[in-house]
Amino acid sequence: MANRKKIGLIGAGNIGGELARLCANKELGDVFLFDIPAKENFAKGKALDLEQNGAILGYDSHVRGTANWADLEGADVLIVTAGIPRKPGQSRDDLVAVNLPIIRDVATNAKKHCPNAFVIVISNPLDAMVYEYKRVTGCPKGMITGMAGVLDSARFQLFLAREAGVSVKDVRAMVLGGHGDDMVPVLSMTTINGIPVSNFIAKDKLQSIVERTRKGGGEIVNLMGTSAYYAPATAAVAMAEAYLLDQKRLLACATYLEGEYGYKDLFMGVPAVIGGKGVEKIVEIPLSDEEKGMLAKSAASVQSIVDVCKKS
Ligand code: APR
Repeated sequence: MANRKKIGLIGAGNIGGELARLCANKELGDVFLFDIPAKENFAKGKALDLEQNGAILGYDSHVRGTANWADLEGADVLIVTAGIPRKPGQSRDDLVAVNLPIIRDVATNAKKHCPNAFVIVISNPLDAMVYEYKRVTGCPKGMITGMAGVLDSARFQLFLAREAGVSVKDVRAMVLGGHGDDMVPVLSMTTINGIPVSNFIAKDKLQSIVERTRKGGGEIVNLMGTSAYYAPATAAVAMAEAYLLDQKRLLACATYLEGEYGYKDLFMGVPAVIGGKGVEKIVEIPLSDEEKGMLAKSAASVQSIVDVCKKS
C-alpha cells in the first residue's frame, strides 16, 4: 500500500460512503473511511462492502474503516464530511452550533496526523466550516478549500440544460459566493458551448432557474428528509482528482481570499485552478454591477456566520 496515494474520508455517512465508492472505483488511492468510535463498525462494514465491490468492478483500491486517527497518518488528501446534515426546514446556517465543535475536533486531529494533506471540506455551513478548519490548523491557503461551487454549478447547469433542451455537457456556468441561499449564479458568463445563454432561455425563466439553483439543496432535503450525497461526493472527487493528477482544473471553489474580488480573510466560492500544488491560482473575472451586489450580499452572510464561530 505504501506507494499508493492515501485518501482520508472524515465522516463515513451518506456522502462519505459515496466518496469512498468513487475514489476506489477511480483507483485514486487507498481509502480510509473514518468515523467516531460509535460508528467504527459501520465504517468498517461500508469499507468491506466497497472492497468486495472491487472484485466485481475490477478495482484494487484498499478501503478501510477506522475510528483511529493514527490510521490516517500522512494522508495525501482529506475530504471532510463530519457533521450533521440538514433536515427539512433547516438552513445550512442552522447547523453551525452542532457542526462547529465537530470541525474543530477534526481540524485538531488532522493537524497532528495529516499536516501535509490537501483538504476539501464539505461539512456545512460550508464557508464558515472551511474558515474554521484553516484557523485551527493554520495550514497554507493553497492546501485547503471547500466544496460547494462545483455542486451549485452542476445544479445550475442541469436546470439550464433541461430548459434549453440541450445536453448538460454543453452548458458552461459557474456559481460563486457563499454556499447559501444568496449564492451567485453568474449569468453574464453562462454559455451553451460559447453561445450566450440568453439566446436560448428568456430572462424571466433564467431568473426562476437562478432561484431554483439557490434553493437546490433545500429542494432535495425536502424530498429526502436529509441532504444530497451523490452530486456532492462527485463534486469533491473532481476536486481531489484535480489535485492528485495535477489536472489544473478551473473550478468554483471556496477559497481563502486575500483581497481578490475585494474580500479579505474570508472563504467564499470563486473560480480557482486546482493542480498538484493545491489551489494554485484564483481567477478574477469581470462581474456585472448586479453580480457584484449579489456577491457582496453573499459575502456578508458568510461573514455573519464566521463571526458567530469566532465568538463561540
Ligand atoms: N469525526 C468524524 N466523523 C464524525 C464526527 C467527528 N468528530 N462527528 C460526526 N461524524 C460523522 C457522523 O457519525 C456521520 O457518520 O459524520 C457522518 C456524517 O454523515 P451523515 O450524517 O450521513 O451526513 P452526510 O449526508 O454525509 O453530510 C455530512 O456534509 O453536506 C454536508 O450538510 C452536510 O454537514 C453535513 C455533511
